[in-house]
Amino acid sequence: MRHGSLYGTVRQTPGDKSMTHRALILSALSEKKVRISNALYSEDCKRTADALCAMGIEIQQQSMPGCPTDEFLGIFDVQGKGLNGLAEPENIIDCGNSGTTMRLLTGLLSGRSFVSKLTGDASLRRRPMRRVIDPLQEMGADIDGRKGGAFAPLGIRGKPLAGMEYTLPVASAQVKSALLLAGLTAKGTTVITDPFGTRDHTERMLQYFGAKFSSEGEACSIEGGYPLQFEWKEIAIPGDFSSAAFFIVGALIAKGSEITINNVGVNPTRTGLLDVLEKMGADIKIVPNDKKDFYEPVADITVRFSELKRAGVVEGALIPRMIDEFPIFCIAAAAAEGETLIRGAKELRVKESDRITTMVKALSVLGVDAEELPDGIKIMGTKEWKTQRGRDGGKCATQGDHRVAMAMKIAQFRTDGTIHLDDETCINTSFPSFQATLDSLLVR
Ligand code: S3P
Repeated sequence: MRHGSLYGTVRQTPGDKSMTHRALILSALSEKKVRISNALYSEDCKRTADALCAMGIEIQQQSMPGCPTDEFLGIFDVQGKGLNGLAEPENIIDCGNSGTTMRLLTGLLSGRSFVSKLTGDASLRRRPMRRVIDPLQEMGADIDGRKGGAFAPLGIRGKPLAGMEYTLPVASAQVKSALLLAGLTAKGTTVITDPFGTRDHTERMLQYFGAKFSSEGEACSIEGGYPLQFEWKEIAIPGDFSSAAFFIVGALIAKGSEITINNVGVNPTRTGLLDVLEKMGADIKIVPNDKKDFYEPVADITVRFSELKRAGVVEGALIPRMIDEFPIFCIAAAAAEGETLIRGAKELRVKESDRITTMVKALSVLGVDAEELPDGIKIMGTKEWKTQRGRDGGKCATQGDHRVAMAMKIAQFRTDGTIHLDDETCINTSFPSFQATLDSLLVR
């Protein structure tokens, strides 16, 4: 049983998740009414919006006109209240499944003159928080959490912070961003060095919002206490590369496919997957459509079905540049002839699920040989997969991980049976219109 091919154009991928979170936060800290267009209306981003509303920020949401999946492509109108305008929340803030909400808010709230508490779902309460708490404490923050501050729920007693110099010990843009947001109201200068080259959306957006921000090489710095100053009224969010990635790999592995995805963010800190796929022989064309002075690079991406070669070893600087794409990359590697080795990717163990264990199990459901390594996965790719139960397919546990669920839905283009996922609702975390978009491209 084959499951068709993908054909056509996705005119607008939902807005980038990372950028939507950041745009919401910085708009709230501005002194203006800001319109965020092509924002992502997903569960994760709504958590950040709701948290800001709980702190007295007015946010109006409306659908984007004329878009086929307009329930999920949003406009947020945010009335900023200035750097110090947030009010003490009356209740515990629930960050749901969103690590970005929790870690960025921890930085944002540490220097306030009030108390706040953050919690999340079972997956988020298992994710490491000391990586943000430790450096924030160096700035003077008073934060506590379960197991001696290792896990949420977190309690933050706002304190005046002082800037500091800090080098990231883990490849985490969330940590970098939490510290920069804390630095916005801290006394003096906060200098962060990121030797890993993690996504730089916070840095670009701080610049766009007119913060007293500068960067040089691996280091960037923010001066505390300066109001955000800018002339524009609307910030447009580029399509999310991490969402586009599912269709990119889908078109590569489904015979007869040819798709174009318009307006995708192609910030080089995010597009490591394209570099690896091109090395594997993927037919991918990238046409930049940057607007002048835009704060992020944007492109149209065209992909045709390709017989993929094995990726060889994927490691080092590539890992942070494709950190969210490993579930779907595993599917591409499984469809390519020969062995692919992912290593130096221990961070995958602390994502929405342990993505090393979850994906090795998922690949075995597909009938693909994969071996779990402490910091990666060895995958024996093959053109013909034999699912565990033949035409009956098999059962796959997504562990409530949105990207695992979407990767397994794309894997169906190669399977000889239908794979049953135990939970698909988790897809709403980042891409509520995933199925609608897939259906619009599907040719049987
Ligand atoms: C994100 C950073 C990454 C990424 C996550 C979004 C962000 O997490 O995996 O999906 O928006 O800053 P880490 O900072 O934990 O690497």
